[in-house]
Amino acid sequence: MRLIHLDEVDSTQNYIKLHPELTDGTAVLASRQTAGRGRLGRSFASPKNLGMYLSVVLPPNTQNITPIAAVAGRRALARAQVDCGIKWVNDLVVERGGAFRKLCGILAELSGGRLILGVGIDIGQRESDFPPELRSICTSVALEGGRTVTPREMAEIFLDELDRTLALDEDALYDEYSAHCVTIGRAVEVKRVPSDPGRPAVAVALDRDFAVEVAYPDGEREVVFSGEASLRLG
Ligand code: BTN
Repeated sequence: MRLIHLDEVDSTQNYIKLHPELTDGTAVLASRQTAGRGRLGRSFASPKNLGMYLSVVLPPNTQNITPIAAVAGRRALARAQVDCGIKWVNDLVVERGGAFRKLCGILAELSGGRLILGVGIDIGQRESDFPPELRSICTSVALEGGRTVTPREMAEIFLDELDRTLALDEDALYDEYSAHCVTIGRAVEVKRVPSDPGRPAVAVALDRDFAVEVAYPDGEREVVFSGEASLRLG
């Protein structure tokens, strides 16, 4: 893959959208984003040199890109000596003190006939680098005792693992994703929209198409698809 390294940009996702000449296999890394974006309209804090802020152009028909990116991100973090789990559908988390803390988020967007995969990994943050409201729910490679790695090195490792994960067949992808998915077997709250109070359930199984089957206390079961609802770990 070809890697373009920018010093500062509003969002690497926006940069690719504004540059239609960037074609499949091109990745854009920024040392800092001034308006990093997360899923569901959230912002993604992107302080200078503390994280990997990377977007990759992929063919629009790439199947299962979110699970692929989660598996590739997990492998990349393992190479930085951080063992993390996948919180369905697309967050990478580490369990500490009975709670899950996030250190990688994934955002896939279709735009102008291209699939733009955005990945943010928190690398060098100390607790005080996170806003107070995120301190108990976020972590970083440094905080988890991983090895010292620059955002650029992490991007190169991630792109290497992305190539390998894109080449997996569906069974191998499913097996690796499900082996590390921390959501299955746990109490969750099913939320359709962010303002939703959430309906308690247990995540009982992961379908072959990466949807989660949940069971409610009244015995009702439902299959929840990615993009349709979020599962907050209870
Ligand atoms: C999430 O956790 O909701 C997804 C976060 C995705 C963040 C990455 S950082 C690189 C790319 N540029 C963005 O503005 N967002 C993604």
